[in-house]
Amino acid sequence: MWDDVMRAGAAAEDRSIIDLFATDADRASGFAAEFDGLLLDYSKTSIDAAAREALLALADKAKVAERREAMFSGEKINETEGRAVLHTALRNLSGSPVMVEGKDVMPGVLDTLARMEAFAADLRDGGFTGQGGAITDVVNIGIGGSDLGPVMGYIALSPYRDGPRCHYIANVDGAHVADVLAPLDPETTLIIVASKTFTTIETMTNARAAWAWMAEKVKTPGEQFAALSSNPGETTKWGIAPERVFGFEDWVGGRYSMWGPIGLSLMLAIGPDDFRAFLQGAADMDAHFRSAPFERNLPVLLALVGIWHNQVQGHATRAVLPYEQRLRRLPAYLQQLEMESNGKSVAMDGSALDMQSGPIVWGEPGTNGQHAFYQLIHQGTRVVPCEFLVGAQGHEPELAHQHELLVANCLAQSEALLRGRSLDEARAIMAAKGLTGDELDRQARHRVFPGNRPSITIAYPLLTPGTLGRIVALYEHRVFVEGVILGINSYDQWGVELGKELALALEPVLKGEDPGKGKDGSTLALAGWMRAHG
Ligand code: F6P
Repeated sequence: MWDDVMRAGAAAEDRSIIDLFATDADRASGFAAEFDGLLLDYSKTSIDAAAREALLALADKAKVAERREAMFSGEKINETEGRAVLHTALRNLSGSPVMVEGKDVMPGVLDTLARMEAFAADLRDGGFTGQGGAITDVVNIGIGGSDLGPVMGYIALSPYRDGPRCHYIANVDGAHVADVLAPLDPETTLIIVASKTFTTIETMTNARAAWAWMAEKVKTPGEQFAALSSNPGETTKWGIAPERVFGFEDWVGGRYSMWGPIGLSLMLAIGPDDFRAFLQGAADMDAHFRSAPFERNLPVLLALVGIWHNQVQGHATRAVLPYEQRLRRLPAYLQQLEMESNGKSVAMDGSALDMQSGPIVWGEPGTNGQHAFYQLIHQGTRVVPCEFLVGAQGHEPELAHQHELLVANCLAQSEALLRGRSLDEARAIMAAKGLTGDELDRQARHRVFPGNRPSITIAYPLLTPGTLGRIVALYEHRVFVEGVILGINSYDQWGVELGKELALALEPVLKGEDPGKGKDGSTLALAGWMRAHG
């Protein structure tokens, strides 16, 4: 299945990307695709027409189209957990039927959305209050997918916020809950406990701390708690009234869950209408993904670029670099989405993966990263494929000149990565500064940029709720396509379990109640050191 792509990869090994522009005047448009105002430019990669053909054929051979239909139509494609994968149903605002085991799930989805909207409207209008009056602050307690999506969205859409302030607690480190709650007034705060399973130790521990904090001032703390979960049995034990429990089904994976109840804090902050616009943006991307031919299909192309850089060319990491301060948590969000989904070395059938799993995803917003780690991206020995995101406009018309500077920096970085600077060019610069002889040569060498470093750019007019929905859905489907091509299950996460089990077993060791028989010397020594200094 991979032979043609690998051959194309070998042929591209010494290819000069900039020469591809010289031989194809239309490369910039020919190696780009646009949907609904979202532009994906992948022309600054070494993919040429033959490589693209091989990659598209790979997607065909991997049966991406069939698997895509299986996902959208509710088949249990999460085979290791026996579950369907239907986060797309949460944003299917048209309500068209989505069947799971012969039952349409849409009435339930739309009913929960309506309940969330009614609650949000009531709270935002001052109908639902705390003991001390209107709710001014909302605290979402959750971790992983029950935290990263809402936080990312809350920051991304700050220009659209007109509701209560939202705060997020994830870490079991008591510092997190202490610092977040310290400035808040329990009498006007709503606590949302967000956990698909409602058993995650970090979330339950933080929720108990928040309950105790609230109980110091509020007579009936449960009345200022809401729960988001697919485990109604556990939420009832907390005594949270059913009207503030928003449920979802097991066919919504944690890292794909911000579209439903887990997005409640975002809805409270921006309001139901803008939250719907966010859902609609994603639904539009779903329709595009489901119907556009692969050569114009943004998620498919984005996935194929990812496969090209990671599995074919061997670049282990992928940097996500939003030139959008409000997307500063997007890299963290994508870390979970991509690495928890595709960081697996066993194929669906249990055999060992015969190539690299998904890449290491990391990043920071530009321009900040430029003054920190871009040095390595430009001149280090490793190649880091970069993914730039940038909006044509900002939300601050009075600071339009700053936005221009931001855009110029973004474009300049991808240009610099592509073009580089040759030794001759560096020598000329040094000579102009008056250097000569060996010193000119030595200094010039430090100023050489190898160039020919790949990047893609995702551009959009303005970061609106709809744009954010399109971007996040684009990445979700990219992960799906990459997973199908690798033959893995992108929807389980067994790799997080071992650490959880060992942490539980270590608690008594740390307390000195258990000698920790069978544990390695380092772990025992560290536990001993902690006991001695604790
Ligand atoms: O441990 C990993 C994980 O299960 C993630 O997949 C999930 O997003 C996170 O923990 C939180 O899980 P929950 O929403 O059930 O608390």
